Amino acid sequence: MIPLPEDRDGLVARYPRHERPTLRANFIASADGAVSVDGLSAGLQGPGDKEVFDTLRMVCDALVVAAGTVRAERYDALRLTADDRAWRRAQGLPEFPLMVIVSGSLDLDPAQLIFSDAPVRPIVLTHRAAPVAPIGEVAEVIAVGDERVDLAAGVRLLHERGATQLLCEGGPALLGSMIAADLVDELCLTVAPLLIGGRAGRIATGPPSPPRRMSLRHALTRDDMLFLRYARS
Ligand SMILES: NC(=O)c1ccc[n+]([C@@H]2O[C@H](COP(=O)([O-])OP(=O)(O)OC[C@H]3O[C@@H](n4cnc5c(N)ncnc54)[C@H](OP(=O)(O)O)[C@@H]3O)[C@@H](O)[C@H]2O)c1
Repeated sequence: MIPLPEDRDGLVARYPRHERPTLRANFIASADGAVSVDGLSAGLQGPGDKEVFDTLRMVCDALVVAAGTVRAERYDALRLTADDRAWRRAQGLPEFPLMVIVSGSLDLDPAQLIFSDAPVRPIVLTHRAAPVAPIGEVAEVIAVGDERVDLAAGVRLLHERGATQLLCEGGPALLGSMIAADLVDELCLTVAPLLIGGRAGRIATGPPSPPRRMSLRHALTRDDMLFLRYARS
């Protein structure tokens, strides 16, 4: 068993930025595949998970998250520690990654901290049939797709804006759509030593999709937590 590195340089070496554009998804699940406990991911967390979560945010250009997760988890603004911001500056990166929220309904609360406390104006990716909504006052609303969010077009748009290292934090409906559109280059999966049972969903749900072959890049542990990184074969 290879331990999860304790220090930031060790973590960055395990979760590097890439030369090529990359969409990396980060999820946590229980040993029996549950993506949440009582509707939230907090009950799955354990030793090392926060460090991986923070490292992935630190090294990305844009964090992409769907409206369901933003609403369920009451997402805060994307704030990094002073050390993490200094690391980014030293790499020639903007101090904060872009925050990108995917929503078709635009049923988003402008007062939620993810918007009202944002250090950089977030982007909301929606479609051309979306209603006009108050969220446009606190975010840049961009339509990609006529009646549903065209995720491939959204990814291209982010690339054009210089954000090539994308981190998708979910949730399962977004990951399922990303898999169906063949946009996922990497999956960082933390497996928590828990059996949840019940009706909790898995990390991806959505339209049918052919199986996509991935290669295992590492399997690291801390205490009983398992940290897997898969990359497109
Ligand atoms: N364990 C983990 O790592 C983890 C990570 C993230 C989330 N979660 C859990 O997952 C749950 C939320 O996930 P969810 O699957 O219900 O929702 P989700 O994937 O977070 O969000 C789904 C929403 O995304 C928007 N959307 C727009 N276009 C889409 C497209 N092409 N494909 C997919 N979504 C699109 C829609 O928002 P509108 O309704 O605004 O149109 C849709 O309702 C929560 O319980 C959360 O705690 C767990």
